[in-house]
Amino acid sequence: MAETMTGLKRTHYCGTLRPEHIGQEVVVCGWVQRQRDLGQLIFIDLRDRTGIVQLAFDEGTSRDIFQKAFAVRAEFVLLARGLVRERTSKNMEIPTGEIEVEVQELRVLAKAETPPFEVLEDSNVKEDTRLKYRYLDLRRPNLQRNIIARHKLVKIAHDYFDRHGFIEIETPDLIASTPEGARDYLVPSRVFPGSFFALPQSPQLYKQLLMLSGFDRYMQVARCFRDEDLRADRQPEFTQIDFEMSFVDQEDVMAIGEGFIQEAYREICGVEIPLPLPRLTWDEAMRRFGSDKPDLRFGLELTDVSGLLQGTGFKVFAGALAEGGSVRGICLKGEAEKLSRKEIDKLQEWIKAYGAKGLAWTRLAEKETSSYEKFLTQEESAAIRAAMGAEPGDVLFLVADGDNSVVFASLGALRCELARRFDLIDASRPCLLWVTDFPQFEYSKEEDRYVAMHHPFTAPRDEDLDKLESDPGHVYAKAYDMVANGYELGGGSIRINDPEVQERMFQALGFTPEQAQARFGFLLNAFRYGAPPHGGMAWGLERIMMVLLGVDNIRDVVAFPKVASSAEPMSGAPGRVDPKQLAELGIALLPGEENT
Ligand code: AMO
Ligand code: AMP
Repeated sequence: MAETMTGLKRTHYCGTLRPEHIGQEVVVCGWVQRQRDLGQLIFIDLRDRTGIVQLAFDEGTSRDIFQKAFAVRAEFVLLARGLVRERTSKNMEIPTGEIEVEVQELRVLAKAETPPFEVLEDSNVKEDTRLKYRYLDLRRPNLQRNIIARHKLVKIAHDYFDRHGFIEIETPDLIASTPEGARDYLVPSRVFPGSFFALPQSPQLYKQLLMLSGFDRYMQVARCFRDEDLRADRQPEFTQIDFEMSFVDQEDVMAIGEGFIQEAYREICGVEIPLPLPRLTWDEAMRRFGSDKPDLRFGLELTDVSGLLQGTGFKVFAGALAEGGSVRGICLKGEAEKLSRKEIDKLQEWIKAYGAKGLAWTRLAEKETSSYEKFLTQEESAAIRAAMGAEPGDVLFLVADGDNSVVFASLGALRCELARRFDLIDASRPCLLWVTDFPQFEYSKEEDRYVAMHHPFTAPRDEDLDKLESDPGHVYAKAYDMVANGYELGGGSIRINDPEVQERMFQALGFTPEQAQARFGFLLNAFRYGAPPHGGMAWGLERIMMVLLGVDNIRDVVAFPKVASSAEPMSGAPGRVDPKQLAELGIALLPGEENT
């Protein structure tokens, strides 16, 4: 039978004991990291969320306690009362390494089966196994540090926004589905069979309504749900630090936004981020880095060589230009000898995942080779080399496409891949910036219409308003993203507060007035009752944690994450439900789906 704590209370956390405690009686509780039996001596490393302390049992220990210590196994839960004493052999690698607890009373509060993997700081156990036993995985100090730092960030957010006059208001989680953006998670209604709530993708509409209600400055640490394909920086449920403010312009929102990030870096990393953050317009970010979330910790900027290839005889390049596209490239400095022909061939295949049809290259190794120069005139080749600043030892990469977005996406990805492979990233300092002036719309080939790049409530720049109908492709928005180390940390915009402009926006997005009314009627109606000028933004809390802590998998900053299929391996969610539950909801499964 397990023993209880009756009569004793923990006095200290394991990781907090120091030489100053020598001579004091303490009570510590925790899990057994490991037990070492040296015959006359037994040592137990006891772990709690603050660290590890060594429990010592020796000839001075009473026989029954010694025997108890002998029987202890990894992950048993113990309580130990004893005296802190100086260690004979010190371990300066851990903060408690100068002391140990000479145990006078030991209680086994719970035994543990042999865990499926050892609880270690750095685990090389397969992630599937770790996620199945997440509660054990979460005993690892690095995950605990991440989760505790996450708590700290939320606290910083509450304090920061409170100090700046923001009020936290909870918006509902069961809302109407507004299918614009990612796919919604739906929740069936029992009272209205055949009707569904949606879980919010963000509090967007409600926070705008709160501005209309006069709350003036709102914030929320909000759970959001998006049924989209997962990536290393996405979860189907995640948390936003969300805010909205009234009677402001873009500069005011950005100032509040960057102030928060500065405070987060200062408090959590001890790093001072100089403000204001640098800014790039979307056009410039794409042109120079091929990405709307450029990683500025390294160079490898893109060069547009289209202008040098007017009238070229190489049909790959000529074709792309004739279709209104471009030919652009990257010059990788000094790595020609290190990048083999075989690796270049692999990159040619790799880049196809980004839509590029090929990757043209010149390798300025001792023996110069090129996949495309033979198709160009000498003047064209020389002009490209000059424009890209090519020198002996460099490798040039070019992508041509009739669709500029393909050129940007593929070179943007290649840029990051080369930086990673050749270790060009200066990880010693974070690199934050704003990307501003996003296009209002992007053309969706799938839907054959313009869709909102941010969302349909984002205000166009004043000077672009009259292009809404005539030239939507050249309308830019009062929208801004905060980017750090190549991640989109957050984004927002100034919103439309004029119902007439909002209606024009819906029209431009291809909605009839009836469709707009059906989907967003409550917002359109509300806006007829006096909406103040307003704007805001939201960060992904997990994304901020990722860059603050330097982890590259979002699951490492989420206590109970989902895997790529959006399932949760530990609880087995999503799962089948009782047919009775379905019947109550008026839901019948399609034939064939009952057992899948
Ligand atoms: P947006 O859709 O850009 O804007 O989302 C804001 C931020 O939320 C984070 N994020 C995610 N994090 C983890 N997993 C996901 N699946 C995921 N999707 C988004 C990103 C992103 O920058 N309502 C607007 C904000 C506004 O305009 O005020 C919005 O939701 O870090
Ligand atoms: P090809 O004439 O098809 O053998 O192509 C010659 C070179 O041009 C090869 O290195 C191809 O990878 C490259 N190439 C083909 N299509 C493109 C493209 N759209 N952009 C850049 N390079 C390309």
